[in-house]
Amino acid sequence: MIDNKKVLFSGMQATGDLTLGNYLGALKNWVTLCDEYECFYSVVDMHSITVRQDPAELRKRARNLLTLYIAAGLDPEKNCLYYQSHVSAHAELAWILNCYAYMGELNRMTQFKDKASKHTENINTGLYTYPVLMAADILLYQADVVPVGKDQMQHLELCRDVAQRFNGIYGEVFTIPEGYLGKIGAKIMSLQEPEKKMSKSDENTNASIYLMDDPDTIMRKCKRAVTDSKACVSYEEDQPGIRNLLDIYCACTDKSTQEAVLEFEGKGYGDFKSAVGESVISVLLPIQTRFKELSTDKAYIDQIIKANAEKANYYAQKTLRKVQKKVGFPERIR
Ligand code: TRP
Repeated sequence: MIDNKKVLFSGMQATGDLTLGNYLGALKNWVTLCDEYECFYSVVDMHSITVRQDPAELRKRARNLLTLYIAAGLDPEKNCLYYQSHVSAHAELAWILNCYAYMGELNRMTQFKDKASKHTENINTGLYTYPVLMAADILLYQADVVPVGKDQMQHLELCRDVAQRFNGIYGEVFTIPEGYLGKIGAKIMSLQEPEKKMSKSDENTNASIYLMDDPDTIMRKCKRAVTDSKACVSYEEDQPGIRNLLDIYCACTDKSTQEAVLEFEGKGYGDFKSAVGESVISVLLPIQTRFKELSTDKAYIDQIIKANAEKANYYAQKTLRKVQKKVGFPERIR
């Protein structure tokens, strides 16, 4: 609890360009949570180096992501938006937690197995202990809730297990975090293979709408979206493409599925897809404009980075000190 509010933590990697799925599924809803929760949103650059990065590129992307957080509506006065690498307690707590996580547990992580099979030339131990760093992220702020996608649930479970194990030995040190899965956000699927999640790492660029896509590109991608031959805009199990476009439309216009289906009754897929495209453009254009404005204001962004890193550090240090004491590190002489 901070100021009588529950604490919420989440993070995103600055690798790959954010998609409409990231926005509608996460960011858009994050904006609404700051009244209810004390929110920390980290750009998790330390996680990013578990796979090889171009340094200049990583730095640029990290800054863009933080700027995008603000452009998408996260108020940096109300939300703590910061770089993970600016708070060294993440690394320090991760080390300690490494000593309480079992290899057997990490061996079971499906994302590790997946990434290891994709990057056979660089299966480093950071990739392996990635979930422990993620646990440290969450536990440092005594987070009560963690909005994550399904793919991160296994990591969150590990975080809970390690926290409970630690508490079992040392008393109530960590708040045990809950997932926030499915309670918020639309799950947006690929425009080309609507059975698959829209992903920033999809090789087919037509499958994803990126937050920075220009209006023509957005429209073109919507028009090319895979549908079916039923020629009827309805929310049916056997129409995954149309369902996905309806989800996008509804998330962008804040209409209900029912309303949207009525609206397109008797209309063809061409008209429907144009309307979906328009709805996406009307949501993304203001974010893009704001992003461009913010990007030119270096001093403003720098000041946010500095102030929020200090705030994050303050809370992180509190937990870290407590943990260090529990495990038996000597007291600091002041
Ligand atoms: N691993 C998460 C992802 O790739 C990002 C992340 C890092 C995270 N630390 C976190 C998410 C803590 C939630 C909480 O999506």
